[in-house]
Amino acid sequence: MNQQQDIKRAVPAGGHTMRPPLLVALQWATATLVVLGLALILVREIVEAKTGRASLLQMHRWCGLLVWGLTVWRVGLRLRFGPLPDLLPRRSAGARFVARAVHMLLYGLLFCVPILGWCLSSADGQHIDLFGLPLPLPIAAHEDVADKLHTWHTAMAWTFASLIAAHIAAACWHQFLRREPILRAMWPWHLSTHNRGDSP
Ligand code: HEM
Ligand code: HEM
Repeated sequence: MNQQQDIKRAVPAGGHTMRPPLLVALQWATATLVVLGLALILVREIVEAKTGRASLLQMHRWCGLLVWGLTVWRVGLRLRFGPLPDLLPRRSAGARFVARAVHMLLYGLLFCVPILGWCLSSADGQHIDLFGLPLPLPIAAHEDVADKLHTWHTAMAWTFASLIAAHIAAACWHQFLRREPILRAMWPWHLSTHNRGDSP
């Protein structure tokens, strides 16, 4: 495909490069919950009161479980939408491959980190619920298994946080340094203009 055709694919007839509004909404809901979940578990480090620590962990779990649910929904939608127009058609094949690999890794971590947390709580013999609705315990209580899962959950969570930081930095680099309008595709304030095909 030549460059002209590539650009046509990137900017459809309506003149906008927005991602479908539901995907955008899911992206921002997920990002908010991930940041909130991380903040809750970090604040817990400095809280000494037992009840406060328990509440913070409980809210951390709820954020993580919601992230998992939103991810399953998002992946289902993404598969239904199929290939979306390329936002940066002038990218080299190598850069395109790296971007796709990072997105795949992000999806993998969005799926696995909460599951590991869920299994960790289960191995720790803790009760798990989502806003009071009891959830199944996937594995039996076992101290050694809980320790291993704690290590895995923590390591993967920090890998995830670093990758998110790199992902956001890359989006900002394209937008603000290279002046390639990538952010508007995922920008929530353009949700209402999507159907009119307005450009920001
Ligand atoms: C927890 C935080 C975040 C996660 C887990 C995340 C994850 C993802 C994933 C998996 C995709 C690929 C979507 C697809 O093609 O199916 C994506 C796309 C994108 N994200 Fe994020 N994201 C996060 C936060 C952000 C933030 C804060 C920004 C903006 C500053 C941003 C900007 C973008 C952009 C512009 C795209 C479109 C890239 C493209 O389709 O080529 N993301 N994000
Ligand atoms: C996006 C989802 C999630 C992220 C990014 C995340 C991240 C983290 C991080 C960074 C820690 C701190 C580890 C440390 O430094 O000690 C942690 C601990 C923990 N998380 Fe998660 N988590 C997520 C989801 C979940 C879920 C869904 C559950 C359970 C249902 C869960 C249960 C736990 C537990 C039990 C701990 C250990 C707390 C302790 O040390 O006592 N997490 N998580």
